[in-house]
Formats: sequence, C-alpha cells, structure tokens
Amino acid sequence: MKPKKVTKAVFPVAGLGTRFLPATKSIPKEIMTLVDRPLIQYAIDEARSAGIKDFIFVTSRGKSALEDYFDTAPELENALKKSGKEQLLEILKSTNMDSGAIAYLRQNRPLGLGHAVWCARKLIGDEPFAVLLPDDVIAAEKPCLAQMVEAYEETGGNMVAAMEVAPEKASSYGVLDIGEDMGAIVRAKGMVEKPKADEAPSNLAVIGRYILSPKVLNNLNRLKQGAGGEIQLTDAIAEETGPDGSGVFGFRFRGMRYDCGSKAGFLQATVAFGLSRPDLRDEFSAYLRDMMAQLRAAE
Ligand code: UTP
Repeated sequence: MKPKKVTKAVFPVAGLGTRFLPATKSIPKEIMTLVDRPLIQYAIDEARSAGIKDFIFVTSRGKSALEDYFDTAPELENALKKSGKEQLLEILKSTNMDSGAIAYLRQNRPLGLGHAVWCARKLIGDEPFAVLLPDDVIAAEKPCLAQMVEAYEETGGNMVAAMEVAPEKASSYGVLDIGEDMGAIVRAKGMVEKPKADEAPSNLAVIGRYILSPKVLNNLNRLKQGAGGEIQLTDAIAEETGPDGSGVFGFRFRGMRYDCGSKAGFLQATVAFGLSRPDLRDEFSAYLRDMMAQLRAAE
C-alpha cells in the first residue's frame, strides 16, 4: 500500500541566525538573497514542485519581513503593468501565495529545531509532512524534495536527505548509523546529532530536508533538551529506527547542497547561482577569471 500523500510542509524559520549578525539583527536570514531571490523563495519553489499545498512557517520575533514577502504587492504590480515591464511582472506574480495557503505560527523561544517543528503539531494533524530548512539550498535538476517524495512512495516511514561529508565534518551534523545500504536509499538503524569526532557512526550526514510521520511529533512531546541544550529533531526521528518505529531511511539526493546558514556556504552559493544565470554568466565569469588571475599574480 502506498503511503499517504505528502501535502504539508513545515518551514522552521524561528532561529536567531547568529552567524549572520549584525545583518540578522533586523533582516531574517531567510530573506537574504541569492542573486535576486530570497533563500525562502528557493525552498518554497522546491516544496511546490514536490506537490506541497499547505505551507506552515514557524516564525519568531523580528521575522515580519518574511511574512510580508508573500503578500501580493498591488502597487508594485500596477506600476510594472503601466510601464510595460511584463517579464518583471511575471517574476513578481510567481512569488504570490494563494490566500490561506500559508500559516504562520510562533515559536516564542528558540528551544531548537525539534521544538520548532513540534509547534506546528496541530496544523499537521495525523499526516506525513515535509520539513525544509531554507538555509540549505540545493541545486538539482529534479528538486531534492521531489526526488524524496518519489522514493518515500516506495518506502513509507520517515525519510531524511543525506550526503557523505568528510569524516572531520561529521560532528557538525546529524549522522546516520547505516543498517542496510541500498544505494540511493539506506535504512538507518540509528541517528545521532552532532556526534563527537571519534564517535560518528558513519559519514552520512543529514541535511535540511525531511519527510516525517506524525509519530515523530508524538516523540517530540516527550523530548527533553539534547545536544547543545536544544530540543533536537534528530532525537525524535532516531526513536523511529527502533523495533516499534515506522523506520527511517536516508536518501542520497542528486544535487549540490549549499549551507547558506554559514558565510562561506552562502558565498559559494552566490558564485554558483550567479554563474548558472544566463543573464549574468558572461560578465560574472569574466570578473571571476580576472580576480583569480590577480590572486595568482599576488601569490
Ligand atoms: P540553525 O542551527 O541554523 O540556527 O537552525 P539559526 O538560529 O538559524 O542560526 P545560527 O546557528 O544562530 O547562525 C536550523 C534551522 O532551524 C530553525 C532555524 O530558523 C533554521 O531554519 N530553528 C532553529 C528554529 O526555527 N527554531 C529554533 O529554536 C532553532
């Protein structure tokens, strides 16, 4: 029997974004732009293309720019219409969300990703749901969540996006303890958040895309603070690897993930997305070549 369709997605955006201070003193991290689109737009587009219909944002104080971003902007639309800027008008319209498609919930204290997801429990109800962390941006021919939905239709249970990382980096991630390796899909027999350098069960790290069963929300009900003093989503998912759980699968997605929650990752994504844009590629690549030549000459 095929699992129930995934139509709801949670976007936890209530974090403090301290790695981008002072910018995040007044701008939500998710509104920062890669070329000309805010991070959140990439996540929304990815969710839409995977069949998501209900978008649940878990926000916090100071995130109103994020909420405004999805409103229609009639004045701007009229101005573009009047001046015949049809292409820009289309781009603008593609950011509008249907009335009622987005719900905003507040996480009143940043108690961790697990807690942020738990805040959405009443809107999720008894259905499988996706979680997307907008600061993980994934460039892929077929969007990562759509790849996962396809795989999930075969496995059911819980599915987390996973990628191999250098062993010395594993302690920055949730890491899978691999039970059975089937290639693109692995069955996990455990999962640990930010393991100590010599205790990582593998170097298959979990990144910010998940498809979860509502049982994970029940597990979150009981959870105490875990690694780093936060309520960890990883711990609630890990409970599902046990004999009574619904199973956890890691999915090696096809694509390139950029950690836009870090400055280096954000800069790398900016270069990659800039170079992938036909309207910018020539000028930008000529500039980068010049820069590289100057750097080499200075060495
Ligand atoms: P991060 O670990 O990147 O934390 O959160 P952060 O606060 O956003 O950024 P730094 O580390 O201080 O720079 C991963 C995701 O979980 C969300 C964040 O908004 C981000 O999307 N999150 C984290 C919450 O929604 N609530 C929390 O309590 C913690």
